[in-house]
Amino acid sequence: MRFHSRPFLAVYASLAMTLICQLCPTAKAQSAELAATPPMGWNSWNHFAEKVTDADVRAAADAMVSSGMRDAGYIYVNVDDSWEAQRDAQGNIHSNSKFPDMKALGDYVHSKGLKFGIYSSPGPKTCGGYEGSYRHEQQDANTYASWGVDFLKYDLCSYMDIMKLHDPSQDPHQAQVMMQEAYSKMHEALVNTHRPIVYSLCQYGVDSVWEWGPQVGGNMWRTTDDIRDNYGSMALIGFSQAGLEKFAGPGHWNDPDMLEIGNGGMTADQYRTQMSLWAILSAPLLAGNDLSKIDDTTKNILINKEVIAVDQDKRGIQGSRIGPPQIWMKPLSDGSKAVALFNFVTDDEAEPLTLKFKDVGFSGPVHVRDLWAHKDLGVLYDSYTVTVPQGGVVMLRIWQ
Ligand code: GLA
Repeated sequence: MRFHSRPFLAVYASLAMTLICQLCPTAKAQSAELAATPPMGWNSWNHFAEKVTDADVRAAADAMVSSGMRDAGYIYVNVDDSWEAQRDAQGNIHSNSKFPDMKALGDYVHSKGLKFGIYSSPGPKTCGGYEGSYRHEQQDANTYASWGVDFLKYDLCSYMDIMKLHDPSQDPHQAQVMMQEAYSKMHEALVNTHRPIVYSLCQYGVDSVWEWGPQVGGNMWRTTDDIRDNYGSMALIGFSQAGLEKFAGPGHWNDPDMLEIGNGGMTADQYRTQMSLWAILSAPLLAGNDLSKIDDTTKNILINKEVIAVDQDKRGIQGSRIGPPQIWMKPLSDGSKAVALFNFVTDDEAEPLTLKFKDVGFSGPVHVRDLWAHKDLGVLYDSYTVTVPQGGVVMLRIWQ
């Protein structure tokens, strides 16, 4: 189920892009070491949505290990919306019958060498209409900590209704201030638990969240509305990240939403595009498929260690678009550069695309490696022309 009041936020999206958070002096990021590189893992939403059960999450954890994903860096196993039941007389949140024992589930995930994530909202209800954390922030944070939670996705949802109660025409900053305050409040509650918990803001990018996300303790923040498992949605979201580079870095990342790789709505070439683009963007890599049924093609995309190394590069520079039509470049800590050539045209044609090395800052001969072919292309001069499949990508690492 989707929450339908988001258009309301469009009113605010155009307001005061540069509002500085004045409400959260103690809300320093839980520290960069929590998310020194973009978080990697799995989230239940894209495939299972509200059908997810304890058994599905355990199966995902098992598959993260057996598929080699854990060893490739995918660590967080995150339960999204629909785990929640009601509160008891003392106000403590409980899980519903799909999740009989959250502490036991957390223990199971941890026993596999993985970390455990959960989902809530600053509003009274989540986007799926389940119980949110409104007015129970510290109590919920304490409960999460007692369950062994290591990651919280905090989704604005019905908090928009709370914001609506304040007439923007009387005070245009009021809604923004309230939203920042709500995010800051949960961050402080998480800090008070003394448990390191990655804090993932989900409010669809409104009010330029990238400008104030770190100040309310965010380790990552969604930059757009929800991704869908089709090329148009993925490409629109991914390629629209151009310009947000300066807001990302160790401990705080732009989040263009989760991976759809393996969910069936795109071709393998298009899924390679998502993996490559997300890596160039230094985006969190949260797989969203049914890992218990992962096939070899999907595995080879999600576990391409050379592409993952680009995403996880410790300098944490978000790559940028360097030129027509969709050539993107990310500088890496060893002095090399990752470059992706995307064939973004919408007809069925494979396209020859040319990279001029001077356009990515090299003069003279360069060493080039193809990160999907896993092949050194040798020493090249001036430029490289390669045929890229429709909707696909060629991803290179270049050094001198
Ligand atoms: C919103 C979020 C999604 C997902 C759903 C759950 O739509 O953006 O990622 O968490 O809520 O209800």
